[in-house]
Amino acid sequence: MKAIYPGSFDPITNGHLDIIGRASKIFDEVIVVVLPNSSKKTLFSLEERVELIEEVTKKYSNVNVDSYSGLLIDYAKKNNVKCIIKGLRAVSDFEYELQMALMNKKLNDDIETVFLMTSSENSFLSSSIVKEVAKYGGCINDLVPERVRVELLKRQ
Ligand code: PNS
Repeated sequence: MKAIYPGSFDPITNGHLDIIGRASKIFDEVIVVVLPNSSKKTLFSLEERVELIEEVTKKYSNVNVDSYSGLLIDYAKKNNVKCIIKGLRAVSDFEYELQMALMNKKLNDDIETVFLMTSSENSFLSSSIVKEVAKYGGCINDLVPERVRVELLKRQ
């Protein structure tokens, strides 16, 4: 079965990679899709985010990367995908993720959202927090892949 792992990935973190690695063991194919989140202004361009994800996921033979500028549910339908994977870090994620899952279900009842719990060592991690720490010179070594760390530091 094919699944999509959607997000804005600005940039991809070790928390995202943990979900991708685990999902790749469950599903035949995982498509990481970079999509717009209208409530976020991004640091990296769409092309840069896609390229970074391609680079850091190349060890997974069943993980592919794509981008889309419309509704997630339309991407899923066009690509004949019936499952959306989301990572859940804490209770604070739940309300927002539930809202999105229910709206996506309302838009297309054939497509299910499956939640994977983030591993405890990544439960505090988000792209926004990583950008904030990098901006003020904090250590981000264990938070993002090396290539992402280098790209983030170039932008400070
Ligand atoms: O990593 P994020 O920013 O939490 O991911 C949110 C994302 C990009 C998955 C969400 O905003 C999304 O699905 N955007 C595409 C447009 C869409 O389908 N919006 C309706 C969601 S109910």
